[in-house]
Amino acid sequence: MNDPADIKRRYRQFGEMECRGYSDLYYELTLAVAGDDGLVDFIAQMPVIQPNLFFAAIQLLTGPAGMPRTGSGLRALVEQRGGEIAGVMRSRRTQTNEVGRCAVLLPALPSGPLALVEVGASAGLCLLFDRFHYEWGAARIGDAASPVHLRCKVAGPVPLPSAVPQVVWRRGLDLSPIDVRNDDAVRWLLACVYADQPERRRRLEGAIALARADPPAVASGDLVDDLPAMLADVPDEARLVVFHSAVLTYVSRERRQAFAALLADASKRRDIVWLSNEPPGVLPELAVMAPPANDLRYLLGRTCFTNGRRQDELLALSHPHGAELAWL
Ligand SMILES: C[S@@+](CC[C@H](N)C(=O)[O-])C[C@H]1O[C@@H](n2cnc3c(N)ncnc32)[C@H](O)[C@@H]1O
Repeated sequence: MNDPADIKRRYRQFGEMECRGYSDLYYELTLAVAGDDGLVDFIAQMPVIQPNLFFAAIQLLTGPAGMPRTGSGLRALVEQRGGEIAGVMRSRRTQTNEVGRCAVLLPALPSGPLALVEVGASAGLCLLFDRFHYEWGAARIGDAASPVHLRCKVAGPVPLPSAVPQVVWRRGLDLSPIDVRNDDAVRWLLACVYADQPERRRRLEGAIALARADPPAVASGDLVDDLPAMLADVPDEARLVVFHSAVLTYVSRERRQAFAALLADASKRRDIVWLSNEPPGVLPELAVMAPPANDLRYLLGRTCFTNGRRQDELLALSHPHGAELAWL
């Protein structure tokens, strides 16, 4: 059984760090959990106590419209359907494929034609850069008829592109790729979106529809062990960009170093642009360049590898789901 005091602390922290000012509903619900011993006892019996998992399990059963709005509503639902919620929490782990991050990554892309390799690609939706529409303040580019409209607040001298670069080749790699044609996997992906964020849900549904019509290839494999084989397939005539978002944070420091060493080695055969969009502690080479206070929490970095040598730039701070981008 998990420690109730730890659960209260984790839920309060999640509410303050991840939800305040971003999801009023989940802010309210996380604080309600932290103040309710009955709910805390229920969560304490789960193998994973993560707030996202608890709320996604509920939303899977209720849909976004049926998600409780108050602590007492949450308590009543757990009393009525606790067995089903526990079943979901025991059998699933949270999964995210956040297309909003494309609005943050796009200004960091070099000009095309590009060959894109995304590690930790999930369903591969962030590989579909060129099928979305982008709004950074008054600047707009991309396909206005796309079902995916990404809106991102910008600050600082963001080098906004006048068009989406041409993508001639794209592949993803993930330990457990999501098949966008699997209805159950899609339902779970949607349940992991905060229930009071209909726009985020709509754009995810739009990206899934695009991917279902023409799925990006995402291979099953590890970002260190299986990347060399994928890089060997990249066509020569395009500029190679390897990127990831919210991925290296899940692997050990040694594996992050092995990943960077692998890119350096591969750059002896061709130049590589590496884009990373990760929490601040993940890549020390970027963290040392970051300003001390960072409300946005992710660091967008670009490392150019040529013939084994690397040149690092910290480009921007970004909101974890791509809602804001502050260029440095
Ligand atoms: C939080 S999701 C982010 C997905 C996507 N990058 C995005 O921004 O929406 C993290 C993904 O990284 C994958 N992942 C974690 N460790 C990995 C590894 N060692 N090799 C490949 N993929 C990995 C997970 O399976 C998961 O799909």
